[in-house]
Amino acid sequence: MTGQENSERADSGPESSTESSPGSSNVAPDRSIVLVGLMGAGKTCIGKRLAHKLGMPFVDADAEIETAANCSIEEIFDRFGEQAFRDGERKVIARLLEDTPRIVATGGGAFVNPETRKNVQENGISVWLKADLDVLLQRVSRRGNRPLLKTGNKRQILERLIAERYPSYAKADLTVETGDESPDRTVLKVLGALADHAGSPPAGSDAE
Ligand code: S3P
Repeated sequence: MTGQENSERADSGPESSTESSPGSSNVAPDRSIVLVGLMGAGKTCIGKRLAHKLGMPFVDADAEIETAANCSIEEIFDRFGEQAFRDGERKVIARLLEDTPRIVATGGGAFVNPETRKNVQENGISVWLKADLDVLLQRVSRRGNRPLLKTGNKRQILERLIAERYPSYAKADLTVETGDESPDRTVLKVLGALADHAGSPPAGSDAE
């Protein structure tokens, strides 16, 4: 991974992703929470904040793949091809799900893989961060390091991925619609959805 990418990931959330929030209530689930959805849906940004609120560790599956391969995702695509990246992605997520419960931000293609999806369904709680095309487009336009978006018109590619992938994402345990709202607002929605799922009051909903 390049230093720039490292710092971009590190800067996209609260100061420390593994620190628990002082005000967070200790009702974190006993399974990992796995955030799924298209590029630009906010999985890393929301994942870090959610982890902070719930006092759970955070891990970005893409960053783990980069660490394991000792190169950036762009380089993996360029040098070894998408299939090699997908194999690494599947293995890394399987390993993460064996670990202690955490918040896992996945890359946009991860939950489309049937094996990964089954693994998440069995060992985690999946949350689809669902954003509309214009929001996704606006967010992905801020960074130019996503290999799949370099091959043509970003809007058309995202439209195609929406058509191809939404049926898979729809199999997530929870769906949270996100718009052009603050990350804190989205985190509260996720906490609410998790609480509904668990049949308990929202965790950490006392603080923005
Ligand atoms: C991909 C999404 C990316 C990354 C890779 C492939 C995809 O992650 O895993 O570029 O297939 O949608 P983000 O969703 O975090 O951008």
